[in-house]
Amino acid sequence: MTDTSNNAIWNRRFTFVMAATGSAVGLGNIWKFPYITGEYGGGAFVLVYLGCILLVGLPVMMAEVLLGRAGRTDPVHSMQENAKLSDASPAWSFIGYMGILSGLMIMMFYSVVAGWVIDYFIQSATGAYSNADVETINNNFGELVNNDSRELVLHTLFTCITAAVVATGVVKGIGRAVEILMPVLFVLMLLMLIYSANQGDFASGVEFMFKADFSKLSADAILEALGHSFFTLSLGMGAIMAYGSYMPGNASIAKTVFAVGILDTLVALIAGLIIFPIVFANGMESNQSVGLMFKSLPIAFSQMPGGIFFSSIFFGLVSIAALSSSISLIEPGVAWMEKKGISRLKSTITLAATAWIGGTVCLFYGEVFDLLDNFTTKVTLPFGGLLIAIFVGWLMNQAVVKADIKLRSDLFYNGWLWTLKLISPLGILLIFAHTLGWI
Ligand code: PHE
Repeated sequence: MTDTSNNAIWNRRFTFVMAATGSAVGLGNIWKFPYITGEYGGGAFVLVYLGCILLVGLPVMMAEVLLGRAGRTDPVHSMQENAKLSDASPAWSFIGYMGILSGLMIMMFYSVVAGWVIDYFIQSATGAYSNADVETINNNFGELVNNDSRELVLHTLFTCITAAVVATGVVKGIGRAVEILMPVLFVLMLLMLIYSANQGDFASGVEFMFKADFSKLSADAILEALGHSFFTLSLGMGAIMAYGSYMPGNASIAKTVFAVGILDTLVALIAGLIIFPIVFANGMESNQSVGLMFKSLPIAFSQMPGGIFFSSIFFGLVSIAALSSSISLIEPGVAWMEKKGISRLKSTITLAATAWIGGTVCLFYGEVFDLLDNFTTKVTLPFGGLLIAIFVGWLMNQAVVKADIKLRSDLFYNGWLWTLKLISPLGILLIFAHTLGWI
């Protein structure tokens, strides 16, 4: 079998679960989720986030996998195929085109942050923090962000590693990489959790994350949770659709998506349970925004027994999480170009180079970084999700949908379908209304 996306299918459900979890688990879980939880005050935000995953994220994810597996090719052509089968307009392939562009836009700022993570990994592993005082570590992040050439080297390195995996193919590259990387990631996370439980102020961390104080909850917090549920599950941009097209035909979509959703949520919660106890044990605040992982945490590590060693493990695991996500950011575009007859290698180089140029612009202009982050998280991903929910919920042949989803109980099936038809779109429309300043 040639290892291109045109005919590749992973022969084990396990590979799909690892790939989709690899895509979902990333900087969103380990860097973003803890800091937005910190900004929005903890427990109540976590509860709303869990609700959003259950009512919007998972139903849309099931729909997206379904579209990919039914189409069996890249997101653009899969949508064309699905539209044809359901007598809908071929214009629905817009979902695929928008997804490919969203993936590239996310890759642009993602590779910059991943570059920082690699920098912290190298600095921890080479002992650069061993004798550093708090002041030095505190300034370190600012210096890194202002050191364009260092950032450039790291973001280039990350982009090249991503491209190498994607270029190697769906089965031998992506499939094999995630089958190894994800179990390693889980083991490292558990190790870090044990460390944090022993050395950190675990009770305060647990209380902060799980004690719901609804007086702290604002409309902003709810909408942030909703937007983040798309980003964290990699929804609305074709990554999950592309991976769905490589999923074995006999696997249950419902069960598989549930597994991915649970793993993604667990990793986010565990990331919080690693970071907050360590940060609290060292008397620091939880509301450090972007700097939570890059300033507070390294300072805390430097004050703790074995901190430098565990800091290397931590930033190593975050690098792995970032890599398994970034490959899914360019795969939809690569699969589409391959279908057009361009080789996988050429397609990968073209897209990785495009993302690299955008990433370089992000390094020099912070505003572009913020713009791409906001535009994708708040506009293109939810919009893609909305279209997917409408297409599968309202337009697709329901007999096909029911047969593919494999939810045996009618109660669960109808529960899913009506959530997808009504609740998920309504939630997404609320995000837009909020972004536009209407609510
Ligand atoms: N889900 C990834 C994360 O949480 C980000 C991502 C978004 C990856 C969209 C692929 C597609 O970090």
